[in-house]
Amino acid sequence: MILVTGGAGYIGSHAVLELLQAGHEVLVLDNLCNSSKVALDRVEHLAGRTVQFVKGDVRNRSLLNALFASYPIEAVLHFAGLKAVGESVREPLRYYETNVSGSIALCQAMAEAGIFKLVFSSSATVYGDSPRMPITENCPTGIPTNPYGQSKLMAENVLRGLAESDPRWSIALLRYFNPIGAHESGLIGEDPNGIPNNLLPYMLQVAIGRRKHLSVYGADYPTPDGTGVRDYIHVVDLAKGHLKALERLSLVHGVSTWNLGTGRGYSVRQMVTAFEEVIGRPLPHIYKARRPGDIAQCWSDTTKARDELGWEAKKGLLTMLTDAWRWQSRNPQGYGVDKAATATKKADTATETALAS
Ligand code: NAD
Ligand code: WQD
Repeated sequence: MILVTGGAGYIGSHAVLELLQAGHEVLVLDNLCNSSKVALDRVEHLAGRTVQFVKGDVRNRSLLNALFASYPIEAVLHFAGLKAVGESVREPLRYYETNVSGSIALCQAMAEAGIFKLVFSSSATVYGDSPRMPITENCPTGIPTNPYGQSKLMAENVLRGLAESDPRWSIALLRYFNPIGAHESGLIGEDPNGIPNNLLPYMLQVAIGRRKHLSVYGADYPTPDGTGVRDYIHVVDLAKGHLKALERLSLVHGVSTWNLGTGRGYSVRQMVTAFEEVIGRPLPHIYKARRPGDIAQCWSDTTKARDELGWEAKKGLLTMLTDAWRWQSRNPQGYGVDKAATATKKADTATETALAS
C-alpha cells in the first residue's frame, strides 16, 4: 500500500488515479485545507476501485504513527503542502511549518515504522533565476525569492541530510516545472481557492466568465516576444512520473533528483494564442508591469528522467489546454459547494482523533 499525503489535491488526485490503475492499494492523508473529498470520489469512479481516506494533518505525529501501525504501507508520496507564493510572503511561518516541519514529522514517523521510501514534491523554483537553459539537475539551486520556494529548498536539504545519515533511505526529489491540464475525463482538475495566482487557472476563469480579463505580467523580458517563458507539463504526465520514480526507488538508495518537465518553453503570448484556438474566441487580456519575484524564463533538461526513469512527457500543449478547458467548462465552479461545505467535517475529525488515540 502507498500512503499519499495531500492526495485529494490537484496533482495528488491525478497520482492516486494512476496508482490505482497500476494496481496499487492507496491510503490518502489530507486535511482538505485546499481540496475536496469529491476529487477522491471521482478518482474512485474513474478507477473502479476504492481509496482509503483519512482526513488529518501531516504534522500530526500521533496520527502518522497510528496510520503506519494500522496499514501495510511500503512507501510514501508526499504532496501535502501549501503552495501559494503570495500567501507565503504574508504568512511565512505557516509555510515553513507545513512544508518543512510537516515533512520532518512524516520522516520521523516513517523511520520509526521502518519505512524508508519517499517521493517528495519539489519544484523548479529551487533553481531560482538560473542563468543556464535548459536547467539540468546539476545546475546549482538558487535563492528562492519567497518563503514558499525557501520552504521547498529547506525540505530538500532536510531530506538530503537524512539520507546521508542513514543508508536505508531511498528518496526522490521531483522538481516539477509548471503543471497544468486535467484528466481527459474532465472529472478531476485544478480548483484554486479565491483569485488564481497561476497563469492557466486565471485564463480558464476568464474564459468561463468568472474574471474580466487576464493581466499579462511583463512584455519587456529578454525573451523572443518579451513575455515570460515556462515549461508547462500535463498533470497526467507528471503523475505518471511519480510511479516511475517509485519503481526506481526499489533499485537505488540515497537521494535522487529528477526534473519533471517537457523540455520545451512557451511564452505567455504563445499560451494565450494557443488557448484562444482551443476556446475558439479571443481571450480578453491586458499588459501590465512585471510581477515582483518573477523570472524571465525557465525550462527543463529532461535527459536524466528519461535515462534513469524511462519517463518522458507525452502530451503536448494543445492536449494540456484542451483537457484543462474540458475540466473547467464542465465544472465552472470547480468542485463547487462540496469543497466549501466539507459537510463530513465532524465525522472526519472523529476519525482523526480515533486513529491518533
Ligand atoms: P494542492 O493544494 O492542490 O494539493 C496539496 C494538498 O495538500 C491539498 O489537498 C491540501 O488540502 C493538502 N494539505 C495541505 N496542507 C496539509 C497538511 N498540513 N496536512 C495534510 N494535508 C495537507 O497543490 P498541488 O498543486 O496538488 O501541489 C502538490 C504538491 O506539489 C505541493 O507540495 C506543491 O508545493 C508541489 N508543487 C506544486 C506545483 C504546482 O504548480 N501546482 C509546482 C511544484 C511543486
Ligand atoms: C507563469 C507565467 C507569469 C499569471 C509559480 C510558482 C512556482 C510553481 C509554479 C509551485 C509567468 C505569467 C501569470 C497571470 C501572467 N509552484 N502570468 N498573468 O510563476 O512560473 O511559478 O507556480 O512550486 O513555485 O512560483 O507560474 O503560472 O504563476 O506564471 O502573465 O495572471 O505567466 O508572469 O511568466 P510561475 P505562473
